[in-house]
Amino acid sequence: MLNVVVLVSGGGTNLQAIIDAVESGAITNTKITGVISNNKNAYALERAENHGVRGLCVSPKGYASREEFNEKFMETVDELKPDLIVLAGFLVVIPPAMIEKYRNRIINIHPSLIPSFCGTGFYGLKVHEAALARGVKVVGATVHFVDEGTDTGPIILQKAVEVQQGDTPEMLQRRVMEQAEWKILPQAINLIANGKVRVENGKVNITE
Ligand code: GRF
Repeated sequence: MLNVVVLVSGGGTNLQAIIDAVESGAITNTKITGVISNNKNAYALERAENHGVRGLCVSPKGYASREEFNEKFMETVDELKPDLIVLAGFLVVIPPAMIEKYRNRIINIHPSLIPSFCGTGFYGLKVHEAALARGVKVVGATVHFVDEGTDTGPIILQKAVEVQQGDTPEMLQRRVMEQAEWKILPQAINLIANGKVRVENGKVNITE
């Protein structure tokens, strides 16, 4: 059984997609042992509670320094004994010590086809604004392992989504979530839970 801890900051629609997939059996061999938010008002915490999943809040605002926060944050994660940590719209920088400790056991969903529209400054609506400003016709989402860089880790799954005439950043964001993020994030967890994902030479091999 893969123990999964999900880190969130906001609405938690990706968390919901994971919960639904576990409940429907689309994800097997998996238990969500906890949800941690940096924001106590995150609706994601309510989603967790509604499904009997433990929700916790650790906010940088509660600590005098980033070091103190990082320590408490890592302690909270460690206590939940995760086999896999899922960043589902988590807006806090992961402490380097945690990346080291959980190498190839932290995954992130990014709302673009990496290496396009990723890296520092590309988060939330900004990603979709940049895609529309460049006039690309295809966008998408990527699930990748987290390493020390920003959106630089080994890519697990990607899914393309078409841009439509007249799209606003909000419309594009919604379509990328519906058609890509909510599908490939649960899919990646299921592959990992069933031992199908291996990282070799910095690249992911998936066995079917
Ligand atoms: C998603 O667009 C995700 O790709 C990004 O943050 C957003 C989170 O949305 N990293 P939600 O909280 O899962 O609804």
